[in-house]
Amino acid sequence: MTQEPFITLAGVRKGYRTGSDAIPIFTALDLAIPRGDFVAIMGPSGSGKSTLLNMLAGIDVPDAGSLKVGNYRLDQMGETARSSWRAHNMGIVFQFYNLLPMLNAAENVELPLLLKPLSAGERRSRVAKVLDLVGLSGREKQYPSMMSGGQQQRVGIARAIVSDPKLLLCDEPTGDLDRKSADEVLEILALLNRTLEKTIVMVTHDPQAARSAKRTLHLDKGLFVEEKRAA
Ligand SMILES: Nc1ncnc2c1ncn2[C@@H]1O[C@H](COP(=O)(O)OP(=O)(O)OP(=O)(O)O)[C@@H](O)[C@H]1O
Ligand SMILES: [Mg+2]
Repeated sequence: MTQEPFITLAGVRKGYRTGSDAIPIFTALDLAIPRGDFVAIMGPSGSGKSTLLNMLAGIDVPDAGSLKVGNYRLDQMGETARSSWRAHNMGIVFQFYNLLPMLNAAENVELPLLLKPLSAGERRSRVAKVLDLVGLSGREKQYPSMMSGGQQQRVGIARAIVSDPKLLLCDEPTGDLDRKSADEVLEILALLNRTLEKTIVMVTHDPQAARSAKRTLHLDKGLFVEEKRAA
């Protein structure tokens, strides 16, 4: 039996309009990502990697074509439905962490849970669990300014998975890190993929980061080419 892909883009068209100029980015993009995949997306600056990630996150929608994630046709959903979908179904990790400086690590991680009907005790135990997963037990009370970039990114990952989404989107998660911190972050992502079966789509400029993924897709001129790897 062949299983339906977790993520399917079919004939996706997307462009931006600045004044009277229309800038096409994708004219007919197709993509299938199976459940449990860990895919790296590489490509030149401006090729549309973040645009694609924003569509997968339900932040932006295709101009035409279909985009399905799990059982949801994101292209057919309105803004309100998509924002509720986002709260339950995906986590996102940013290049510059996007932590709130006036909140400590635990409070930053707890933020997405405040939208859910959970008791303070349940929230605390979930926060403790994901901080432990990313190796930050005991640092709950530290503020972002007291942490290294690698530690801040691990807080960012904990925040992205605290609601237990099946889909994890990462936009250059190691782009601002030294090699050692980058490798630690990549190890955590691989672990989340392997043991918690998160489907991960990671945009990266770093070939070494891409090798942590199960496969690499190169985006160029609006199309994907899959990288061949030696066995
Ligand atoms: N909100 C917007 N309005 C107008 N044009 C945009 C908008 N967002 C992106 N673009 C344009 O769309 C194209 C693709 O942008 P995108 O940010 O997806 O590229 P990228 O592959 O993520 O690049 P980078 O590697 O630099 O992050 C670029 O030409 C960009 O200028
Ligand atoms: Mg980008």
